[in-house]
Amino acid sequence: MSSRTRHGATDPARRPLLPLLTGQTGGRAAMTCRYRCGNACFHEAPNRSGNPYFGDVAAAALSRRTLLRAGAVLALTGGATGLASTRAGATPPPHTAGPAAVGLRFEPLTQQTGDHVTVPPGYLHDVLIRWGDPLFSDAPVFDPERQSAEAQERQFGYNNDFVGLLPLGRGDHVMVVNHEYTNEEIMFPGYDPDNPTRQQVETAWAAHGLTVVAVSGRRRGRRSGALDVVVDHDLNRRLPLSAEFELTGPVAGSHYVRTSADPEGRTVLGTVNNCAGGLTPWGTWLTGEENFHQYFANADAIRDPLERERLDRYGAESAETERKWERFDERWDLAQEPNEINRFGWIVEVDPYDPTSTPKKRTAMGRFKHEGATVRLAADGRAVAYMGDDERFEYLYKFVSAEAYRPDDDEHNATLLEHGTLYVARFTGDSPAGEIDGTGALPSDGAFDGTGEWIPLVSGTTSHVPGMTPEEVLCFTRQAGDAVGATAMDRPEDVEPSPRTGHVYAALTNNTDRTAEQADEVNPRAENRFGHVLELVEDSDDAAAATFSWRLFLVCGDPEDPGTYFAGYDKDQVSAISCPDNLAFDDHGNLWISTDGQPDSLGANDALYGVAVDGRRRGEVRQFLAVPTGAETCGPVITDERVLVAVQHPGEVDGANYENQASHWPDGGSSVPRPSIVVAYRADGKRTGHA
Ligand code: FEO
Ligand code: CA
Ligand code: CA
Repeated sequence: MSSRTRHGATDPARRPLLPLLTGQTGGRAAMTCRYRCGNACFHEAPNRSGNPYFGDVAAAALSRRTLLRAGAVLALTGGATGLASTRAGATPPPHTAGPAAVGLRFEPLTQQTGDHVTVPPGYLHDVLIRWGDPLFSDAPVFDPERQSAEAQERQFGYNNDFVGLLPLGRGDHVMVVNHEYTNEEIMFPGYDPDNPTRQQVETAWAAHGLTVVAVSGRRRGRRSGALDVVVDHDLNRRLPLSAEFELTGPVAGSHYVRTSADPEGRTVLGTVNNCAGGLTPWGTWLTGEENFHQYFANADAIRDPLERERLDRYGAESAETERKWERFDERWDLAQEPNEINRFGWIVEVDPYDPTSTPKKRTAMGRFKHEGATVRLAADGRAVAYMGDDERFEYLYKFVSAEAYRPDDDEHNATLLEHGTLYVARFTGDSPAGEIDGTGALPSDGAFDGTGEWIPLVSGTTSHVPGMTPEEVLCFTRQAGDAVGATAMDRPEDVEPSPRTGHVYAALTNNTDRTAEQADEVNPRAENRFGHVLELVEDSDDAAAATFSWRLFLVCGDPEDPGTYFAGYDKDQVSAISCPDNLAFDDHGNLWISTDGQPDSLGANDALYGVAVDGRRRGEVRQFLAVPTGAETCGPVITDERVLVAVQHPGEVDGANYENQASHWPDGGSSVPRPSIVVAYRADGKRTGHA
C-alpha cells in the first residue's frame, strides 16, 4: 500500500480548515493532552513524595543512610576513581570541517510548518500503511463515514506509535506497531463528546491495541528502500481491546488483579495506550502501556484511603472519563470493578512470529506509565530492560532477569521477563548545588554530570521496600520508588542502549512544572519546555551493574538559546530540537531522536533528527524529516535501506474536529487525516546518510 493508492472516502461538503489555534498548555496541543494523556499535564503531578531533586550530595547521602537502615540491598561497587575512568564521553573540541558522520550525510532540513512530510533532497517517501487500510482481504474498504468495530478489527488501527521491523528473510519483514490512543473528535463524524454512541466506543476499542503485519521489500527491485504491505500474510494480526492477554510474574493471580470477569486474575482483555517499545534479542516485541489511568472512571467512589492513595498516585479519573467508556462496559468503572485498573500499566511481550501466541503482561517489570522497554544483555547474559515512567517528576527504571539469555532456546528465553530484579535510579551531581541555577548555564566543571545507583525494589518474591509486599512493589511501583528516594525526572520517555557501546540514552521530554528550586544537575532547567537527553554509562560497562556515571548529552531547544547544550558541538552548526521522545540507533551507532511538542515549543512541526554520539561529530544534531500539521514523529526505525516513522495524530490541533479538520494528510483534498507509517529512502538506491 502506498500513498499513490488512495481509496479513502472524502466528503466534499466538509467545511474549510479552521485557523490553527495556538497557545496550548505544556509542549503540545490541549487536544492531545485530552485524548492522549487524559489531561495529565492539567493536573498537579501525582508525585507528591518530595523525592529529590537531589541538589546536594549531603541530601543524597542522608537518603542512602535511610535506605541502608531500611535494610535495602545496595551493591556499592565502583568507587570514584573507577567511575571517572568510565565516565560518559569527554566533550570533544568543536570541529565542523569535513563531512558529517557516516550515516548522517544528508542535507539537514530547516524547521518545517506545512501539512506534509518533508525529507532531505535526494530522498523519496511513501505512506506504507494508513489507519483503516486492510490487513486482510476481507476487510471493508475504509469509510470514515461508516466505521465499525468489525471493520476496524480487520484494518490498521489508529494513532500508530512504536514501530519495529523483524526479519522474515529475502528482504521481507514482520512489522509491529502500537496504536496508542484514539481521538474521537477528529475520527468520527458528528461526534458528541458528552454522548458518544456505542458504535463509536466499540470502534475506538478496536482502533486501540496492536498490529502485526508483514511487509515486503522485494516488489520494487533490489535498489529501492520502498516497502509494501502483504495483505493476508499468515503473521498478520490485530490485537484490539477484545484480545486476550496473559498476566505473568509475581502479580499474576494475586488479589490485586482479580475481577468478577476474571476471578483467577490471569487473563486481561486488551492493552491500552501503548506508547513506545523495543525488540528483544530473542525476537519478541515489548510494548509499554502508558497513560492507562485516563480510561478508568469514578475514583471518588473508592473510600478506602490506601486504595484511593494508590489510584491518585497514578492519576485515575475522579469522576467520568473523557471517552465515557464506563457507560458501555463496567470494567472501566472503578466503582464496579476496582481492580481492573491494576491489570493495565504493564510491559507487554508479544511473539510476532507466532500468530496464535497469547501476549504476556510482564508484572515482574513493574507497573507505571510505561513509555517502553529496550533490552540489552549483561556481561553474564542476563537480560536488562531499561524503562521510563513518562510523567512529570517520575522515575527511570531497569529490570535485570534472573536467568541468562540462551541463544536458540526460545522456550527458555520466553520466560526471561517473568523473573528478575526491578531497580529504580537515583542520580547524584558532581557540581555544587549553587551552580545549578535553573537556566541551563553549565556549572564550572563544564558538564551536567555525576554518578548514580540502581536501587533494588524487588527481586522475584523478595521485596526490598519496607512495608510493601513484592506484589505491592510491582503493582504500585511509583510508591515503591517514592519510598527509596528515587530521583524525580523531567518525564522519562524512551531509554535506548547503544548496540555499539552499551551506553544508555534517555529522552527527558520536558517538564514545565519544575521550579528553579527543584532544578538539579540531571534536570537542570526550571520550566523545562525543551527537554534533554541523558547519557548513562554502567560501571564496568556491564548492564547489570548497580552503579553508573552519567552526563547530559543534549540540553535541547533553539541553539541560540544560551541554556542549550549539544555535547559541546558548535551550536552554529546544529538543528534546533525540542521535546525528545523516541530514540533509535542506526547501523553506524548514530542516535536518532523523534520529537513530540515542537509546534508549541519551537513553532515548528515535529521532526526526526540524527546525531553522532562518538567522534569529532559528537553532538552535531541534523534534522532528517518533518511530519505534517498537528502530528508527532514516532517509532523511528533507521537502517541503511530506509527510514520508517509513525506519523501519529496528524491534525490534532485545538479547535479541530471531524467537520473542521486541521490536516488532510496523507490523502489531501478534504479527506480525514489518517495516522500512517511512512517509509523514506534514497531515490538513487544508495544507503541512508552516505555520500
Ligand atoms: Fe506516549 Fe510518553 O509518549
Ligand atoms: Ca558537573
Ligand atoms: Ca512517546
